[in-house]
Amino acid sequence: MTTGRLAGQVAVVTGGALGIGGGISRRLAHAGARVVLVDLDAAAADATAAEIAAAGGDVTVLVGDIRQPATVAALADAASAVADGRIDVLVNNVGDFRPASRDFLHSTEDQWQALYEVNLLHVFRVTHALLPAMVRQGSGAIINNSTVEAFRGIPASAPYSAFNAGVSAFTKSLAVEVGQHGVRVNAIAPDLADTPQTPAELMLRGRDPELLRTWLPLGRFGRPDDYAAVVEFLASDDARFVTGHTIPVDGGTLAASGWYARADRKGWSNMPNEA
Ligand SMILES: NC(=O)c1ccc[n+]([C@@H]2O[C@H](COP(=O)([O-])OP(=O)(O)OC[C@H]3O[C@@H](n4cnc5c(N)ncnc54)[C@H](O)[C@@H]3O)[C@@H](O)[C@H]2O)c1
Repeated sequence: MTTGRLAGQVAVVTGGALGIGGGISRRLAHAGARVVLVDLDAAAADATAAEIAAAGGDVTVLVGDIRQPATVAALADAASAVADGRIDVLVNNVGDFRPASRDFLHSTEDQWQALYEVNLLHVFRVTHALLPAMVRQGSGAIINNSTVEAFRGIPASAPYSAFNAGVSAFTKSLAVEVGQHGVRVNAIAPDLADTPQTPAELMLRGRDPELLRTWLPLGRFGRPDDYAAVVEFLASDDARFVTGHTIPVDGGTLAASGWYARADRKGWSNMPNEA
């Protein structure tokens, strides 16, 4: 694909096979970027890459665990090989709320460490490995994947929430540091995406989908492309004066926090929500 607002740009997407990351890989490729996708799941990565290639996109696959320093080094090599060391866009997408525990009291140090490694540590490592290319060329856009729970409490996941608040704080501080080099750093904060990690059926657990409108202002779960569209904007020149921010992509849940459309359709309530 040689047209589109990211035409010819090299874009790295971690966890770029499935879910939100899959949507991001497809979107950026459709916008003309030469996508380097790294993922744990070889079969899913190949399937997404085949779909992108069939649509005329340019994609390179690397299979590996982004928590491993060797994968980060291989990713830097793979990305550098695409266009003589040029790297225009980095999307640090990998993250997971699991292992969640019943509550913080029952959580263990091993769980905190696992949550740290899958939500925050690799964001530092990958950014540290790819940022020099952006600084050298005097341009670049980094987009991190945080969560609304960096801003709103979530029971049973306090460490997950803390590490994602870390992702958003890292986004802000790094943006201040690297703006002088023409590099922008932003994040998205998703909620309620229908993905393999949080499938809609599991979130609904048999409840009537009609109830969605009572706690989700836009009345539906998010689709990967809803998040990818915002990532494409942040990666593009249209966001040339935007840096240091985390943009919620949540169908309005953060804005509505604590407020629920009444089951009887008579307005909204911040009280226990009975018909
Ligand atoms: N799903 C949601 O509603 C939601 C809400 C808030 C934040 N997020 C954030 O969005 C991001 C993506 O979420 P999702 O629901 O699409 O996830 P997902 O689990 O459905 O998909 C993650 C993708 O990353 C790959 N992956 C996972 N661990 C990896 C690793 N260690 N190394 C390489 N690849 C790895 C998976 O194989 C998969 O392709 C995460 O950072 C998550 O915390 C999601």
